[in-house]
Amino acid sequence: MLAKISETRKDFDDDLSKTTDIQSLEEVRLKYLSRKGLVPQLFENFKDVSRVEKKSVGQALNELKNYTQAKFDEAKEKFEAAAKNEKESELDLTLPGRMKTLGSRHLITQTLDEMKFIFKGLGFSVFEGPELESDYNNFEALNFPDDHPARDMQDTFFVTPKFLLRTHTSPVQIRVMQSMKPPIRAIMPGKVFRNEAISAKSYCLFHQVEGLYVDTDVTFAELKATLVAFIKQFFGKDVVYRFRASFFPFTEPSAEMDVWWQPKGKEGRWLEVLGCGMVDPNVLINVGIDPEKYTGYAFGMGIERTAMRKYGIDDIRILFDSDIRFLKQF
Ligand code: DAH
Repeated sequence: MLAKISETRKDFDDDLSKTTDIQSLEEVRLKYLSRKGLVPQLFENFKDVSRVEKKSVGQALNELKNYTQAKFDEAKEKFEAAAKNEKESELDLTLPGRMKTLGSRHLITQTLDEMKFIFKGLGFSVFEGPELESDYNNFEALNFPDDHPARDMQDTFFVTPKFLLRTHTSPVQIRVMQSMKPPIRAIMPGKVFRNEAISAKSYCLFHQVEGLYVDTDVTFAELKATLVAFIKQFFGKDVVYRFRASFFPFTEPSAEMDVWWQPKGKEGRWLEVLGCGMVDPNVLINVGIDPEKYTGYAFGMGIERTAMRKYGIDDIRILFDSDIRFLKQF
């Protein structure tokens, strides 16, 4: 048995010295060290060894096991290191680096940021409200009674009979007036939702900015002056605009503001950019503000629409497509 052990060790040394890479080393491992390999087999034979020999054979077996395992590990490490070196030497450090592409703000965000900047300069703070809104805040408190025909103007995504995805940012006016005392001068941007057929002109989701100013002696003249200041800063001081009488349940009187749109080589026309008016006394009463003491104005505009006008975009859907070729231009 002892002779067999030293023979195995010699064979192992011999085989190991012939290995050239990980694969040939694996063959050596299978032959000697795997479960059915020569070394475990010798351990199998150990039970047949006579009692007198047991001690010396046992020792020799253990030595053989430790020796072969250690030699194998050493060789494995050597081959692995060599393989790694080879890989590294394939690195071509003269290759040019990869360009990192920087993301940028979406056109809607840029437009909103610009609007915020302008209104902050005019003394407005910024507030936000939830997209899931109560029927009360979205309609009723804004003076749309249950059977008011104006409710049909906005096709609504109802979530329950009493809750809906807000159809405009005007309900944030209600929230702001419920939680603050005048003077209030705020803009309220956010997403709004309408159950409309998707086309170049309309999308089921878009953004609005609401504006509100409530104080003693707020006048329609101030509303006009504020909006004219905004429109000139936003579109340029040569912008041609007009106010046109209109109707909203929550303002009285109400108006819309148009800007003149003159595409190159095409016929020009008026385009509506926002709705506005003096806050209806009923709305003030609904939020517990005394209409005898306070007056206010409000306005609301679509961000997509305004951006489309400013940048000459004629299909709203492109703003929601995330097409990098389009977004990159801004
Ligand atoms: N909420 C209106 C809409 O979605 C826009 C609007 C009009 C808001 C007049 C106002 C306003 O605050 O005074 O069409």
